[in-house]
Amino acid sequence: MRIVSRVAAMQKLALRCKRAGTRIGLVPTMGYLHAGHLSLVQRARRAVGKNGVVVVSIFVNPTQFGPKEDFSRYPRDLKRDLKLCRGAGVDVVFTPGDKEMYPRQGEAADEAAREDARPTAKCSTYVVEERLSQTMEGAARPTHFRGVTTVVAKLFNLVQPEVAVFGQKDFQQAVIIQRMVADLNFPVKIIIAPTVREADGLAMSSRNQYLVGDLRRQAAVLWCAIQMARATVKKLRTFPAVKLKVAVKKLVACEPDTRLDYVEFFEPEPPTPVAEVTRGTHMALAVYIGKTRLIDNARI
Ligand code: PAF
Repeated sequence: MRIVSRVAAMQKLALRCKRAGTRIGLVPTMGYLHAGHLSLVQRARRAVGKNGVVVVSIFVNPTQFGPKEDFSRYPRDLKRDLKLCRGAGVDVVFTPGDKEMYPRQGEAADEAAREDARPTAKCSTYVVEERLSQTMEGAARPTHFRGVTTVVAKLFNLVQPEVAVFGQKDFQQAVIIQRMVADLNFPVKIIIAPTVREADGLAMSSRNQYLVGDLRRQAAVLWCAIQMARATVKKLRTFPAVKLKVAVKKLVACEPDTRLDYVEFFEPEPPTPVAEVTRGTHMALAVYIGKTRLIDNARI
């Protein structure tokens, strides 16, 4: 397994693979890997075959964190991640630092950096999806998707993948990236792989490690809410979204340290809110468990 930390070296390696006709599959991550990430690696391997190259990028991307979010405390453990990647048969791990990905360039960046101490300030060119990123995560975290699309576009330019695999857990992110790829003609096939869950239904996420003591138990409430919505629709066939949102809010409030941020019911393609929830409607929610904000989604 090769470990590459320089952007120039990554791009050179990618272009060499391309010239040799080797297929590249990319799994973009922010590290602190878990079984969910490893399932994306397996999916990438299936897509490029044994002669292809599977690249995992590990980069905690500052531009997708808001000023009050958990950028500095986001879990990081590169040694452990590398071990997991080796075990999963990854060919290349790309681990650039902030300065590699967002080098300080020119006056504009310096001016921005004075106002904002985060590494975010080092970027002055962004890729912005303007439609699908306005709701749910985009409404709750206004600069989040701009950071995601920008870093993913950069990764596509550096790694030159034929396929890139994203998790269904971040459904809105995956759909926005699909749109970006279509709008900007990136020659990349986007694969969305199923969410991997813990035994109690909690979607695997690097942020789950913030959940200490009883908070971990309470976090199962996201899955309970999805199950409750499913059961309602199974029984009644159709149910008003407004009423189901109230029921989800009540259910979440049953746990002592939880707070519903949002719940939405929508048709998935393209994501469009619905008034009546029926079988096939998609549900997405964000819930604070203590100070940790978790998201989940599923087809109802
Ligand atoms: O889903 C993530 O881990 C991140 O948003 C991504 C796609 C790696 C971009 O930083």
